[in-house]
Amino acid sequence: MTQPLIVANWKMNGTVAEARQLVAAMKPGLAGVKGVGKVLCPPFTALATVSEMLEGTDIGIGAQDMYHEDSGAFTGQVSPGMLAEFCSYVILGHSERRSLFGETSQSVAWKVAAAKAAGLSPIMCVGETISERETGRAEAVVDGQVLTGLVGVSNIDGVSIAYEPVWAIGSGAAASPDDAQAMASRIHQVLSDRFGPPAAETPVLYGGSVTDENILDFMGQLDIDGALVGGASLKPDVFVALTRAAAASV
Ligand code: 13P
Repeated sequence: MTQPLIVANWKMNGTVAEARQLVAAMKPGLAGVKGVGKVLCPPFTALATVSEMLEGTDIGIGAQDMYHEDSGAFTGQVSPGMLAEFCSYVILGHSERRSLFGETSQSVAWKVAAAKAAGLSPIMCVGETISERETGRAEAVVDGQVLTGLVGVSNIDGVSIAYEPVWAIGSGAAASPDDAQAMASRIHQVLSDRFGPPAAETPVLYGGSVTDENILDFMGQLDIDGALVGGASLKPDVFVALTRAAAASV
């Protein structure tokens, strides 16, 4: 396994002033954690400030979404090239975008291809709803999201997959480490079948109610290469502790 990757998804939280405070509180602790990739994904409006504050550190920056076109009459959208001025990562296909904003695996596929073309590393999110799990369709749903989301790329260098079961997000009820491992292993197999054996090295992150208290349970799983963290990434002490624990698990 390459070094684990811990990604903070701040979602729609934080004015520029608040982002400044969060980064100031986290930066010293995070900078001291070695052997693990660290990425902060603030709202678009805070990207410039956060990137300035993190200059010269080994803490990466990501956006939470983007549009797939380079420029033009797309009011309200942000292009890959605009993000590339500040970020090296972009979260794509988050379940909140799928359920609230009409994102589909087809639109995710356009975005993944456009992000790669712009030199950004996509973190493509997949995951089943509770009813899909309860009716035995979780695997088929996730397989479909993985394969359709990657339909526009011929290699997956630079891509990470975040397995985030929808029912575990923001619920305080994380998936069991065994269930998360089973799906992460399956995703590695699907990637390897589709893109060839080296694709089994693609980082697969787990997301959904990750905290400093359960991170080790996930990092101990063979196919889980890191975490995509929501709520806990807004608490500087907790996020630093979580990142430190992930580094110690290697
Ligand atoms: P929580 O960590 O708040 O459950 O959010 C997970 C998530 O959606 C990260 O993208």
